Amino acid sequence: MRRAKISIIGAGNVGATAAHWAASKELGDIVLVDVPQVEGMPQGKALDLYQSSPVEGFDARITGATTYEPTAGSDVVIITAGVARKPGMSRDDLININTGIVKQVAENVAKHSPKAVLIVVSNPLDAMVYVAWKASGFPAKRVVGQAGVLDAARFRAFLAAEIGCSVEDVHALLLGGHGDDMVPLLRYTFAGGIPVSQLVSPQRLEEIVKRTRSGGAEIVSLLKTGSAYYAPASATVAMTESIIRDKKRILACAAYCDKEYGVGGYFVGVPCVLGTEGVEKIIEIELDDSERKMFKTSVQHVMDLVKSVKI
Ligand code: NAI
Ligand code: 2OP
Repeated sequence: MRRAKISIIGAGNVGATAAHWAASKELGDIVLVDVPQVEGMPQGKALDLYQSSPVEGFDARITGATTYEPTAGSDVVIITAGVARKPGMSRDDLININTGIVKQVAENVAKHSPKAVLIVVSNPLDAMVYVAWKASGFPAKRVVGQAGVLDAARFRAFLAAEIGCSVEDVHALLLGGHGDDMVPLLRYTFAGGIPVSQLVSPQRLEEIVKRTRSGGAEIVSLLKTGSAYYAPASATVAMTESIIRDKKRILACAAYCDKEYGVGGYFVGVPCVLGTEGVEKIIEIELDDSERKMFKTSVQHVMDLVKSVKI
């Protein structure tokens, strides 16, 4: 049986860590790509990871490159290329430099892997996924951004610690952009099937929502030299797995919404069914007035960001 092929463009912290999770789950053969200026780095990381395979017991070819030919015919391409934020920077501060990078990467990916599903991770996420869509010329369902799985994971981890229960039993849903105005939905958040509002006080819930919204900044301020990568890579690989294995998981992803939620042609975080076709379905859930208001504010931020991009 042919193994799936996954290419990861940007062999930095998120890219290399995603390669690690994907390899250990035996999702397919992996190609790690970075720029010619760091020739040897993606090859070295790939070789090092490959040499762990006999110990860990996974079968996968892992190679590194600084050109796109080795990525040809990929099933999934993950874009983590770009610059990460440093203390004092917002995700939006990365827009000019990362737009140029993501555009060039997406054009190359489209040329070499015209049938791939693209998962964009580079920030500012909601604008970069739009840039990748435009530059690749791919149908919108084959371009998706990673944010909601990470934001929900942070929310779930904080809630599990508060409740004193397993993280496995906490399920949460977040909508909107990958910014400080993301929309954690308490009404759709459960621990062991029990609404969290019955388990955690309103004041603590408010504090946990606040911490989730600034979850990325909290890590940046601790690391000082870059941003989070273990949880972002793990979230990206969960999406990759659902696509490669056609699991059809329902995950919050940045998907192209036109009539859906009345967004009007932007990528924003919504619950999606992810399978081999990419975003196979966007699920429209019922929102109350206050949730709709928060979602609208978040979408407005995404629209402003995308309008400021010069593609
Ligand atoms: P990093 O600096 O460790 O790695 C980025 C890599 O991209 C570097 O190795 C760099 O050489 C490479 N690169 C730059 N231009 C390239 C090009 N044209 N082609 C190929 N590779 C290129 O950064 P890290 O921590 O891996 O973050 C990567 C991006 O992901 C950042 O923009 C960051 O803000 C974003 N991010 C997004 C998250 C999300 O939830 N959507 C979470 C975490 C990070
Ligand atoms: C995060 O949320 C930086 O977007 C990245 O950690």
